[in-house]
Amino acid sequence: MSSLPAADDSPRMTEVPRLPPQEKARYVQRLFTAVAPTYDLLNTVLSFGLHKWWRKVATDECRLNPGDRGLDVAAGTGDFVLEMLRRVGPTGYVAGADFCMPMLKIGVKKLKGRADLLQGDALALPFPDDAFHATTMGFALRNVGDIQQTLNEMTRVVQPGGRVVQLELSRPTHPLFRPFYYFYFQRLLPFVGRMIHGKQENYAYLPASLKEFPPREEIAAMMRKAGLTDVIVKDLTFGIVAIYAGTKVSRLQAEDSRQKPLNLDSPSPAPDAGGDS
Ligand SMILES: C[S@@+](CC[C@H](N)C(=O)[O-])C[C@H]1O[C@@H](n2cnc3c(N)ncnc32)[C@H](O)[C@@H]1O
Repeated sequence: MSSLPAADDSPRMTEVPRLPPQEKARYVQRLFTAVAPTYDLLNTVLSFGLHKWWRKVATDECRLNPGDRGLDVAAGTGDFVLEMLRRVGPTGYVAGADFCMPMLKIGVKKLKGRADLLQGDALALPFPDDAFHATTMGFALRNVGDIQQTLNEMTRVVQPGGRVVQLELSRPTHPLFRPFYYFYFQRLLPFVGRMIHGKQENYAYLPASLKEFPPREEIAAMMRKAGLTDVIVKDLTFGIVAIYAGTKVSRLQAEDSRQKPLNLDSPSPAPDAGGDS
């Protein structure tokens, strides 16, 4: 048996983001099992209620229409699922998957049967290829054991032309804002976490996970590698949160781009060579 850091083992909290995928998964499951009862309240308090607006902007990027199918990965207590339901309407379908049952149980109460919530791992989604018009993930990419595999899976289950959208905490872009942000994140947030949830240690994981999270350009590059095109990164609220969105390439586009490297040895003629003039 490998020795996992206990949820209240604060000195090792900073090591968690670098744990091997399976160990990290077991730690993260335990962490969210512990915070589930206070998760929604803390989310609202710690984001000053802004998380609702962030989710709306991110869901806009899904470009969902009434009747469409959406999937929220690492759905937690179901807030993204609720937002997607508003877009797809009564003729649409929304599912949420998460590997932490206590988080999902809170979601089940909130959703009142309007969407399917099921236990599933973001690294091996229990859905067939091309099943949805859009997939989202909110505040969870930092927590998965393998970011590229997660993006690959989210892209796999979306149909060609469909959207993959990530909403994630980010390091602020505005230099004047940075000192306040780090004070808030590293000092105030664990303190408020302890006041509401009772365990400061669980909130020490948050700054550690953000510190280890790859920069924006790297996440965008991983999304392209997963098979997404027109990838955009949109900063919100001075860059403390970022939305990453891309469109799944059609099979024809994918085949085309797979063939492109073959042309590298025989470059195509310059645009003005043998032209129409
Ligand atoms: C910070 S919460 C976010 C919950 C929700 N997405 C939201 O926007 O409020 C992170 C969630 O990711 C889930 N999670 C982390 N890694 C996962 C994985 N590999 N597969 C499924 N769920 C995962 C956790 O169980 C937790 O519910």
